[in-house]
Amino acid sequence: MSLQLTAPFRKSDGRTVRLGKKKAPEKKQIAKLKVALSLDIGSRYTKMLLGRQKAGSLFIEQAFTANTPERAYEDGTVADAAALETMLKSLAARNRNMTKDLIFSIESTKIIKREFVIPQIPEEDILGLVTYEMMQYLPIDISEYTVQPNIIGGVIEGDTEKTKVSVSAVPKNIIQSYQKLFTAAGFKPVSMDINSNSVEKLLRFDIMRNPASEYINKNVVFIDMGHSCSNVSVYENGRYQFNRTIEIGGRGLDAVIADSLEIDPQKAQNVKKELFSQISVPELDEKYGNMPSGYQSQSIYERTLIDIMSVIRQWAAQVDKVLQYMTRSREKKIDKIYIYGGGSLIKGISEFFEQKLGIKTASASALNCFEYGQAVDARHIISTHGNALGAFLRL
Ligand SMILES: Nc1ncnc2c1ncn2[C@@H]1O[C@H](COP(=O)(O)OP(=O)(O)OP(=O)(O)O)[C@@H](O)[C@H]1O
Ligand SMILES: [Mg+2]
Repeated sequence: MSLQLTAPFRKSDGRTVRLGKKKAPEKKQIAKLKVALSLDIGSRYTKMLLGRQKAGSLFIEQAFTANTPERAYEDGTVADAAALETMLKSLAARNRNMTKDLIFSIESTKIIKREFVIPQIPEEDILGLVTYEMMQYLPIDISEYTVQPNIIGGVIEGDTEKTKVSVSAVPKNIIQSYQKLFTAAGFKPVSMDINSNSVEKLLRFDIMRNPASEYINKNVVFIDMGHSCSNVSVYENGRYQFNRTIEIGGRGLDAVIADSLEIDPQKAQNVKKELFSQISVPELDEKYGNMPSGYQSQSIYERTLIDIMSVIRQWAAQVDKVLQYMTRSREKKIDKIYIYGGGSLIKGISEFFEQKLGIKTASASALNCFEYGQAVDARHIISTHGNALGAFLRL
């Protein structure tokens, strides 16, 4: 079966794309998704959730994590389909439910993201207009991309009210490779999302259901701190505004530890986790963050700790650069930074970012409007499975 992308589930949810040929009536679609799996493949860990729709809520029955085979998944694309298929089959075997319906969320630098300010036109005409704009201004063959507009809001230009739209163009060959992979692994892919949009849905879901939501009327930044890269996204009153990928992640720490201690990256990762279960980043920074130039380290361990701190300081500097750009170009101050992804589990990383960036920073915490099964670690669910969680939502 060749894959075709059809209209989004809902117009208001611009970048959720439904997979499959025919557009089913909405009622049937919702019924079909009462129970589903949601998947976020990462370069280090693959995360999957089993969720059940409940009235006004979502019940997360199970949360799974598996090691992604090395180099099988690169920059949001399938690099080794056979290895991923084997991993996905073993994940599927852990699923207690019979459902094969699969929602998935991805991120890749191959996804083109642009913002446009367009005249106020009927919503059904926006896709045509932005596709035309993309075709005009980008040196790409637009027919090889699936274009998804997402309305950000109204803006005034001169004395005319216009509409600001963020547009994502996902290469069709990426979508097709996922379709093929998931089908081969025994799943039925039903919808796809982009991580920054999955998070937008989490925030909007919270805003809709929780009158005390901390995202209401706030300009917040979410940083997905992954293994190979991190994603910085801005949301205003829960609405996605802007996203930038930076090449920092847990892998950088594993590499310096592996190098210094002459061990393999897997062992280095264990050392890293053990280290940060005992000492926090601000404590480490105080001791090893600001060594005089030419300092001769006393031992290989001291050298390793100095190198680790130097990597984490570079992370803060890179995040700072993106945030400076964002605040300059958007002329809006950032109220708060939320970090999630595996890197957010590093002890004291949010306090360290707060010190270095001068902006209130915290780990994103579980939203009250979800319910969780007994075996699910609700406290860390956004850190570990945030993208998969957001992808579930239909707003
Ligand atoms: N407790 C912890 N302390 C320190 N680092 C941790 C901890 N738990 C996980 N990590 C690190 O987080 C990273 C994995 O996070 P995550 O699952 O978000 O990445 P990923 O999605 O696989 O990567 P990417 O998004 O870059 O493809 C790894 O580098 C891992 O070592
Ligand atoms: Mg990730």
